[in-house]
Amino acid sequence: MAEAQFKVFRGEGAKGELFEFPVEVTEGMVVLDAVQQIQSRHANDLAVRWNCRAGKCGSCSAEVNGKPRLMCMTRMDELSLDVPVLIEPMRGFPHMKDLVTDVSRNYEINKKIRPLTPKPRETDGTYRMQQEDIERIQEFHKCIECFLCQNVCHVISDHSVKEFAGTRLLIRIASLALHPLVTLKRL
Ligand code: FES
Repeated sequence: MAEAQFKVFRGEGAKGELFEFPVEVTEGMVVLDAVQQIQSRHANDLAVRWNCRAGKCGSCSAEVNGKPRLMCMTRMDELSLDVPVLIEPMRGFPHMKDLVTDVSRNYEINKKIRPLTPKPRETDGTYRMQQEDIERIQEFHKCIECFLCQNVCHVISDHSVKEFAGTRLLIRIASLALHPLVTLKRL
């Protein structure tokens, strides 16, 4: 069984340092497995968010070797294990503890986006939509709100620009603006 070294950021409120841990690597393992192994064997109080383990919930976002990644979707065999694997929290959000950051800014901005105001139902009580109009916004609905795009956005990280919503929320606005039942003009 191969062994890898991991360097994991630990600390609170942006103060912290990297701690090195050994990880036993098995076939098919992803980075989240390694972090959970560290948590169970060496650092029971390591703070890390995860939920679905399938790239669907967006909660395991972190920086792996300096790149924005979902830990549950980053396979260990994609990484060079000759040097320690670096695991850090998303740097674009206020740090809370270890690998956990405060992403509440996204939810606050989301509340300011006016919701869909659909046009009235047909006389038979249904809505009628063209398939091509439905398909136009399908892609926007694939966003899992991992906020990795917000994390690496240089406009957001330039703190002098407070109003910019960021890519995730522009995608949400686009999905509302292009909705087949839309009545509200957003531009
Ligand atoms: S745990 Fe849900 S996306 Fe990784």
